[in-house]
Amino acid sequence: MAFLASVFAFAAGHKGAAAAQQSAPAASAPSKSAGAASGDPARGKSLFEQNCSSCHGVDATGGEGPDLHGVPASLGDEAVVNIIKHGIRGTAMPMFFDLSDKEAADIIAFLRSFDASATAGTVKGDPKAGKALYESSGCSACHMIEGQGGSVGPELTRIGAMRGPTSLEDRLIDPGANLPQNGTGFYSSKWTEYLMFRAVEKNGHVIEGMRVGEDSFVIVLKDGSGKFHALWRPDLRSLAQEPGKSLMPSFKSALSPAQMDDLVAYLMTLKGAQ
Ligand code: HEC
Ligand code: HEC
Repeated sequence: MAFLASVFAFAAGHKGAAAAQQSAPAASAPSKSAGAASGDPARGKSLFEQNCSSCHGVDATGGEGPDLHGVPASLGDEAVVNIIKHGIRGTAMPMFFDLSDKEAADIIAFLRSFDASATAGTVKGDPKAGKALYESSGCSACHMIEGQGGSVGPELTRIGAMRGPTSLEDRLIDPGANLPQNGTGFYSSKWTEYLMFRAVEKNGHVIEGMRVGEDSFVIVLKDGSGKFHALWRPDLRSLAQEPGKSLMPSFKSALSPAQMDDLVAYLMTLKGAQ
């Protein structure tokens, strides 16, 4: 059945996109140097508020996207201009092709106004204690770090480079409330990953799982044991999204606030291969 093969190819392609994330940022031809020295930090601040703060936080300390303090200094202004204009392929970092070089320089000037050392203060916990908690809490049954662990949830090898600490804590407390959005660099092609669906077959059999692929005729769900189900839509009695649901349990009551800080501090050390 050709359509199923194509759905699986799609699902596999989607996984491939996630793997390609590792090679981010997208290495396109470097754009002409924006010369942050010429940027206007006040204009940069308002451009940042309009375009970036929803993901990186108003003060650029991170949220859905990473902390950006010290980033122009470590990556270089040209690389940051390139990321702003082209996005990071396979991640939620969109491209801003409508921002001019001057506007990108203004944003960089704003980011350079922060002292990179201020970043360290945003993570309170002890990463060593956090690593022990990670190991004793069953996280690796569902998550992979550097090739070790399960694949029900997203790989965490680079999670500290992808998110800010508050957003990680939110996700441990209330999984499913804020599902990771992945895209190809365009707002329009965003895809909510791990969105849960409940399908009821004509014979009454219920399948619950995360959507990993779909087209007009077929939806592919992955259940809590990691098993894939390709379901032919016309054969289903019902199919419903379950927004806010996740296969991940909440760790709100399992961990004390101090343990939560430790675990987040550990996750923030996971930055992948340098
Ligand atoms: C829709 C959410 C979103 C918006 C809006 C957004 N970003 Fe991002 N950004 C991300 C995510 C997620 C990453 C991490 C991608 C990865 O490496 O997996 C990121 C990464 C980056 C990086 C790379 C950081 C590093 O250390 O490698 C820079 C620089 C950056 N963003 C700047 C910006 C700027 C400037 C804006 C506004 C013009 C912006 N972003 C808007 C989500 C966003
Ligand atoms: C039963 C499987 C399961 C267990 C156990 C589990 N998770 Fe998850 N986790 C998931 C799934 C599925 C998602 C994606 C959906 C969501 O965000 O709710 C997820 C999402 C996450 C995210 C958000 C990833 C992102 O891209 O922002 C983090 C961080 C995380 N888990 C960390 C942990 C930690 C730390 C533990 C142990 C304390 C843990 N998880 C235990 C299944 C699990």
